[in-house]
Amino acid sequence: MTQSDAPHDVDGSRRTFLGLAIALIGAGVAGVMGVTIYGYAVAQALKTSASGKEGNWIDVGPLDDFKDGIPTQKSITVVTREGWVNSQTEEAIWVTRQGDAFTVLTATCPHLGCKVQWQTEGQTPKFFCPCHASSFEKSGKLIQGASARGLDTLNWRKSPDGTLLQVDFKRFKALIAEKVELV
Ligand code: FES
Repeated sequence: MTQSDAPHDVDGSRRTFLGLAIALIGAGVAGVMGVTIYGYAVAQALKTSASGKEGNWIDVGPLDDFKDGIPTQKSITVVTREGWVNSQTEEAIWVTRQGDAFTVLTATCPHLGCKVQWQTEGQTPKFFCPCHASSFEKSGKLIQGASARGLDTLNWRKSPDGTLLQVDFKRFKALIAEKVELV
C-alpha cells in the first residue's frame, strides 16, 4: 500500500458501510410495507368472501313503519365493492306488509330501468311505470306494458333483535322475461 492509497481505502470503507446500511434499511422498509399490503389484501379478500356468503343485507327500517296491505316506498344505501373501490348508491324499493310477512320489490322497472310508482287512482291500485306505461300488481306481477316480466322481488328477513326489516339487495338484467341477477 502506498501513502497515497490510504485515504482512498478509508473512503471506500465508508462507502461500503453506508451502502450496506442503506440496503438494510431499504430491505426493512420493504418488508414492513410488504406485510402491511399483504395484511390489507387478506382482510379485503376475507371481507368480500364473507359478504358473498351471507348476502348483501341492508337495514330498511323498523317493522312498525309498514302498514298492512299498503305499499311503502323506502330508499336504501347500497355499497358496492369493485376491486379496491367502494361506491355508494341510493336505491328505491317498495315494501308491502301482510301480517308477519313482507313483499319487497325493487322500484326499478325491468323494461329499461325507470322507477315505478304506486298509483291509487282508478279502480284497481297498481304499480305504474311512467316511461312506457307498464303496470304491475301489488305482488309485482306484470299486468301489461312493455316490460317482459313482473317487478323483481328481493329476499327479506328480520334483524336478529326482531325490530328491523332487512333486505338482501340485488340488481337484475333488464329486457328479458327471466329474473337473472347481475353479477
Ligand atoms: S322503463 Fe318501464 S315500461 Fe319502459
